[in-house]
Amino acid sequence: MNSPGLSAAVFDTKPYDRIHLPAATGADVQLRFLSFRLTAETAAAALGDRAVCAFVNDTVDRDCLQQLSSQGTELLALRCTGFNHVDLAAARDYGITVTRVPTYSPNAVAEHAVALLLTLNRRIHRAFNRVRELNFSLQGLVGFDLNAKTAGIVGTGKIGRIVARILRGFGMVVVAYDPYPDAAWAAREGITYVDPFTLASLSDVISLHIPLTPETHHIIRRETIERMKPGVVLVNVSRGALIDTAALIDALKSGRLGGVALDVYEEEEGVFFEDLSGTVLQDDLLARMLTFPNVLITAHQAFLTHEALMDIARTTGANLRALAAGGSFVDGSVLT
Ligand code: NAI
Repeated sequence: MNSPGLSAAVFDTKPYDRIHLPAATGADVQLRFLSFRLTAETAAAALGDRAVCAFVNDTVDRDCLQQLSSQGTELLALRCTGFNHVDLAAARDYGITVTRVPTYSPNAVAEHAVALLLTLNRRIHRAFNRVRELNFSLQGLVGFDLNAKTAGIVGTGKIGRIVARILRGFGMVVVAYDPYPDAAWAAREGITYVDPFTLASLSDVISLHIPLTPETHHIIRRETIERMKPGVVLVNVSRGALIDTAALIDALKSGRLGGVALDVYEEEEGVFFEDLSGTVLQDDLLARMLTFPNVLITAHQAFLTHEALMDIARTTGANLRALAAGGSFVDGSVLT
């Protein structure tokens, strides 16, 4: 017999989060939307909830999971793909099932990466501000043709493949690196797999589409930047800590990098997703990054399309319903 339903604490929610999830969970799941992030300190807010729903900048460490477990939490449903912010071993120890959204519109993220690249290269961000000030000068707005240039795609999973295909559409030569290459896909798309150093030395544009793991932490650092073509444009919509920000700033100051487009930042927690206008920015590295004319930063919005939000709500809602009804979780979504 099915259990009677459940309540779920949904941490770190913004108004756009509150639109799709209620429709996807149905009447059996009572959602309690909380605007603050989940940490060991705030976990007590989920008292009485069998399920907890968390997002990318929640800190779901061992202490947090212990607290949740002591309150009877059975399911941690992540409404994101990445799970580097969750201590999965601790979740196993405390018997908490962790689910994620294994896939949601990869097009949303891929298209944002390309939007950043085009904006940065053609200086649209600067042109937009100038024209609004009635400054119609073109000085300093020279970009380069993408056609016939080389793009290096690091990680050819769901998102990297779409970026690769879009850039092929611009007439770019695309090279890629992935420890698990798919030769048939590459042959079909006219893409060549190379080793990371060759990718670094050939590419005019490098775009990262890999998860954050101990192996990929600071994959972009002083030594790897030195291997890159001078003037390379770097795009990162994956995870901030793939890049050593201090090394990036040095390379920007010296003119070694042509430009940097970021949707993620290693210290984004507590900054991205928040309206901090009118406050004093405490992060000196981020403040320095924001001063470069050839740096473009968005605040982790690559996923923010209606289609992606609906996909996220569907998977998360289905997992919450499964817990309420004693059914099975969405295929491929269970981490522990
Ligand atoms: P995926 O799992 O489909 O693909 C990841 C690929 O990276 C795999 O092919 C894997 O073999 C490869 N890989 C792993 N380690 C590597 C390494 N050291 N070098 C090169 N390749 C490596 O993941 P998907 O869906 O393409 O997402 C990629 C990343 O994008 C996610 O891990 C997440 O961090 C990020 N993301 C960012 C979002 C945003 O809003 N900014 C939204 C969604 C995902």
